[in-house]
Amino acid sequence: MLFDTPASRNPIDRQKVIGKPTDRIDGPLKVTGNAPYAYERHDVVPNQAYGYILGSSIATGRIRSMDVSKAKQAPGVIDVVSTLDYEPAPLGPQNTANLFGGAKIDHYHQAIALVVAETFEEARAAANLIEVDYKRNDGTFDLEAQADSADYAKGPEGEDLVERHGDFDKAFESAEVTTDATYRTPAETHAMMEPHATIANWDGDKLTVWTSNQMIQWGKRDLANALKIPQEKVRLDSPFLGGGFGSKLFIRSDVVIAAIGARQSGRPVKVALQRPLIANNTTHRPATIQRIRLGASKDGRLTAIAHESTSGNLPGGKPEEAVNQTKVFYAGAHRKVALRLAELNMPEGNAMRAPGEAPGLMALEIAMDEMAEKLGMDPVEFRIVNDTQVDPMDPDRPFSRRNFVECLRQGAEAFGWDKRSATPGKTVDGDWLVGMGMAAGYRGNILMKSAARVRLGKDGVVSVETDMTDIGTGTYTILAQTAAEMMGLPLEKVKVTLGDSDFPISAGSGGQWGANNSTAGVYAACVKLREQAAEKVGLDPQKANFTNGRIHLGNKSVPLTEATADGELVGEDAIEYADVDKKYQQATFASHFVQMSVNRFTGVPRIDRMVAVCSAGRILNPKAARSQVIGAMTMGAGAALMEHLAVDTRFGFFVNHDLANYEVPVHADIPHQEVTFIDDVDPYSSPMKAKGVGELGLCGVGAAIANAIYNATGIRTRDYPITLENHL
Ligand code: MOS
Repeated sequence: MLFDTPASRNPIDRQKVIGKPTDRIDGPLKVTGNAPYAYERHDVVPNQAYGYILGSSIATGRIRSMDVSKAKQAPGVIDVVSTLDYEPAPLGPQNTANLFGGAKIDHYHQAIALVVAETFEEARAAANLIEVDYKRNDGTFDLEAQADSADYAKGPEGEDLVERHGDFDKAFESAEVTTDATYRTPAETHAMMEPHATIANWDGDKLTVWTSNQMIQWGKRDLANALKIPQEKVRLDSPFLGGGFGSKLFIRSDVVIAAIGARQSGRPVKVALQRPLIANNTTHRPATIQRIRLGASKDGRLTAIAHESTSGNLPGGKPEEAVNQTKVFYAGAHRKVALRLAELNMPEGNAMRAPGEAPGLMALEIAMDEMAEKLGMDPVEFRIVNDTQVDPMDPDRPFSRRNFVECLRQGAEAFGWDKRSATPGKTVDGDWLVGMGMAAGYRGNILMKSAARVRLGKDGVVSVETDMTDIGTGTYTILAQTAAEMMGLPLEKVKVTLGDSDFPISAGSGGQWGANNSTAGVYAACVKLREQAAEKVGLDPQKANFTNGRIHLGNKSVPLTEATADGELVGEDAIEYADVDKKYQQATFASHFVQMSVNRFTGVPRIDRMVAVCSAGRILNPKAARSQVIGAMTMGAGAALMEHLAVDTRFGFFVNHDLANYEVPVHADIPHQEVTFIDDVDPYSSPMKAKGVGELGLCGVGAAIANAIYNATGIRTRDYPITLENHL
């Protein structure tokens, strides 16, 4: 189904099932331990052996030799796979770091060997017996030291990643009020609950991997590529994930090394990346240094906006696109955004939840707070004055829907913003300095092709099949809601099966594009199924209605099961997009309001209250959407106050590479969170008229916390995390 015009009225609009705050259909499986993660799939193939990965203990250099003889003779060991016995695996388009193979070391904890044994403990014990002789090279590990010499990052055609509109330099020079400051965000690790894990099995030349992956087709493509086998020989299955946050968008070393280990040892092999390996073996959100200059007239209108971000990555890697939102968020005729990239011999930097906007807004929204203060304006009013309904880089391109001002107004109202004292450090409550801060959120809405198959059985049950994944976001439930709404059935009559690469190819889970696109794919498949069902019972498919388990038209009404009297019906289709996203800038918007207390004597910061208002088109399931947003707000609180991969700049690795040392929020850190969604639909996003919220909820939170700390204490922080020891 090609979607090229605004969605008209369609069956989804009835909202008998869609739009309801429905419990997760996979919830009972999850809480009873019956939704297995990859490593727990003991029943998929018998005789599974355990793999244990050895990571490089240098950051850059070569392996001169590796002695695996003692490991091979250790109890329970079946085989040892050495990186020296394999060529480097060809990279997938999104990978920068070699996942396995060869003597060259590009980053610390690069996988260099796999011990395959009868038990996990035996594999681990044997891995300790492997002796490696390294030639260690000098490397560059310190972004701060490299930043000044960093050149512009390059685009696909080798062009400098710098974009201009108008004449920033002139406008900034002549602006009545200006700010110019530099902000820093640290490297972060995804810290998802389920580690990267894979069980691999070969049946002749056919490979099956039961794994934990967000983007099944990318994984299938990249794994076939890495092993130099045809894609048809590869099957991925990933029905349940314990989080990904971008670290499972692409296959990682566990997938490749489990497949190689299974082939070499002749046994099915299961591998989970050990937790202490994940931060350095996989990817992380790169640290950024961001300079932001704003110029405005005295009445508060922005005239000049420049945002330049420097990040680092391995040779051939990409920059963190922290300037994305700044291109389009606020009005202002003259603007410049630029990305610089330093070469670092650190692990691969790559996508982490809301890549670009999450760290970008942590900087931009403090800058906006600073500018509002200089102008003597309320920060909410300052943002309202600078709203734009068109893409400022391309004024002929309007936003499809932009309810940003409503987000700001509703948030201010719900939070009680009018009670804020504009002067910092004025509100004292016992031992605590109390402050209020706000920031805005922006995250793009990406349209991607997505396919699904729906079957209507003789029992009247609709089965949905797609390779879409549920990374903990509630995908099972919204796909079931979509099929139920389309076929006029209660939710209990819908079954959803996900994550199998043999199913139709979905958009996958990433960039908060999953919800809108994958439900639209199910919508398209259901349109096909409705056509077949209507024809079977002799009704005009264009006009027939599907409600209450029946097909109706005029005064004729038949049970849906009449359509399957001769057997199952199958509808399969994809949603595809023409150019609605070229004609219309598509994005989601939020406002975040936070109250912070900072202890006057100890400097301990405490979050008292958080309010978010989000605008993201139709909210398919307000309960699941709220869960996404409060989780994202929690992640934003971690980014503001705790999260930080500490770099050992001598040896080139992240020091705090496990969950004991990498701090994330716990329940005691998080207060009541209030989340409101703007009641709206976006007819340009898809027939679902929906968008995503999973990443939006993170965008802006950190700056709201920083701004509240400023309001509480008068201490303006421009680098994260904001900690007792560094700032307060
Ligand atoms: Mo998200 S970082 O695109 O999984």
